[in-house]
Parts: sequence; C-alpha cells; structure tokens
Amino acid sequence: MIDATGNPQTILLLGGTSDIGLAIVREYLAKQTLRVIVAARPSPRRDEATAGLRSIGATVDVLDFDATAFDSHPGVIDAAWAIADVDLAIVAFGLLGDAEQAWQDHAAAVALAQVNYTGGVSVGVLLGQRMKEQGYGQIIALSSVAGEIVRRSNFVYGSTKAGFDGFYRLLGEALEPFGPKVLVVRPGQVRTKMLDGVKEGPGAIAPEVLARTVVDAARDGRTLIWAPAFFRPMMWVLKHLPAPIFRRLPI
Ligand SMILES: NC(=O)c1ccc[n+]([C@@H]2O[C@H](COP(=O)([O-])OP(=O)(O)OC[C@H]3O[C@@H](n4cnc5c(N)ncnc54)[C@H](OP(=O)(O)O)[C@@H]3O)[C@@H](O)[C@H]2O)c1
Repeated sequence: MIDATGNPQTILLLGGTSDIGLAIVREYLAKQTLRVIVAARPSPRRDEATAGLRSIGATVDVLDFDATAFDSHPGVIDAAWAIADVDLAIVAFGLLGDAEQAWQDHAAAVALAQVNYTGGVSVGVLLGQRMKEQGYGQIIALSSVAGEIVRRSNFVYGSTKAGFDGFYRLLGEALEPFGPKVLVVRPGQVRTKMLDGVKEGPGAIAPEVLARTVVDAARDGRTLIWAPAFFRPMMWVLKHLPAPIFRRLPI
C-alpha cells in the first residue's frame, strides 16, 4: 500500500538499469525501507544496479525484461505481482539512438519505435489493468520535452516520446475514476549514460536533482511535470511561434 504521505512499499522498476529510474528509487529509499523489483535485461549493469540497491537497504527481486519482447510482458507483470502488490511502477527504459542515423536507417528507427513507444504501451496497458483491479497504485512514466515539440534535430526519438507521452497522460485520465494515478515526467537533458557523447544544452541536470522533483510530484499526486520547471513556459512559447521562425531555431 501507499501510505498517507505517499510512500510506496513496493516499486517495480521497468528498465532496471536506467540511471534516472535508479535515482528515483534511491530518493524513496533515503526516507524508508522498500521492496524493489528490478525488471531489466540480464547484464553486469543489472547486477551492479541490484547490488547497489541492496547495499542501501532495499529488498531486491530481479525479473528478466526486454522491452521489445512484447509477448513476454504479461508474464513479467504477473511475476511482479506474484512477488508483491506493486504500489509504484516506473517506466524507465528507453533508447536515444543517433538522430541522423535514425531517420535514414530502417532498423534503427524501428528499434527506437519499438522500445520507446510500443514497449511503453505494452507494459502500460498491463500495469493499468493490474492497478485498476487493485484500486490503487501509481505509474511514473519518463517522457521528454523532446516529445512535446518534435523537432528536426531528433524527430524519430521525439516522435516516439510524443506517442508515449500522449498514451500515459490519457492512461492517467482513464484510470483516475478507479484510484490509480499516472505521473508523466518531461525532463530536458539529464546527465546519464544515455547522453554519453551528446553536447550538453541549457538546463541539463543531474539524475538526483530530477529524482527529488519527481518524488515530490508523485507524493503530491501530480499528473504532469517538466524538469527543470522553466521548460513549461519555454515550450508554450515555442509552440506558438510561426513555423517558418521555429524552423530556423538552432534546436
Ligand atoms: N537522460 C536524459 O537526458 C533524458 C531526458 C528526457 C527523457 N529521458 C528518458 O528517461 C528514461 C530513462 O533514461 P536514462 O537517462 O535513465 O537512460 P539510461 O540510463 O540509458 O537508461 C535507459 C535504460 O533503458 C534500457 N533499455 C534499452 N533498451 C531496452 C530493452 N529493449 N529492454 C529493456 N530495457 C532496455 C537500458 O537497459 P540495458 O541495461 O538493458 O541496456 C537502459 O539502462 C528514458 O525513457 C529516456 O528516454 C532521458
């Protein structure tokens, strides 16, 4: 159960090696004990992530999870609930890819779409049904400002995040009468391994900073946040620029 102050007892981390996902889990662990179900592909990175969580007091279970093995997802979600009722699920897997390769290389584009969008929808429907049945629960869905306005500079990634963002926002609306909540998070750049080799832009933040913002918003029952917060008005302005001007911006 999620207690009166918004603290979950069991978290399912889908994309169990995500730097942002792990930072969010650590933020919860700073104030409480917790069971964490790490769902990720087998790898030394997964071993390191689980050892790290155990070393700071989490009870950790591990499930094999591949975001593109869609047929396996019902079994993964069943296995998670067989361990414990899941109070909070974090949908944290994702691929950035190379933006210029992605729109010209069939395999690269399909991989981005399958991991970021189809994988997100696949687990989202299953989480939604489970949480609807139990009458409570929360999903934190890691979207991106890149999905709010899809730009020329990374439009394959951005388009997958646009679809992901729309799906989770409306999943939250659909679940609202039944109790569960969905928080959609739109970060700008976050300094994680996903951005290794990518030029840092304005407003880049550490995963720990994002995690504090996310956990506060989840405890407050919010449904949509930008991080840093200035992206909200900035996106509003960009959306209202005439297309010929927008196209000339170096973004
Ligand atoms: N970092 C940013 O600037 C930023 C900004 C906005 C939004 N986001 C979003 O935030 C989320 C988390 O990103 P992050 O920064 O924490 O990146 P990250 O550390 O690279 O984590 C992403 C994780 O996705 C997992 N993954 C990729 N393909 C998978 C698959 N087929 N099956 C299962 N897992 C798979 C990877 O796991 P493996 O260990 O198996 O490779 C990886 O650890 C992503 O959705 C990302 O798009 C990130």
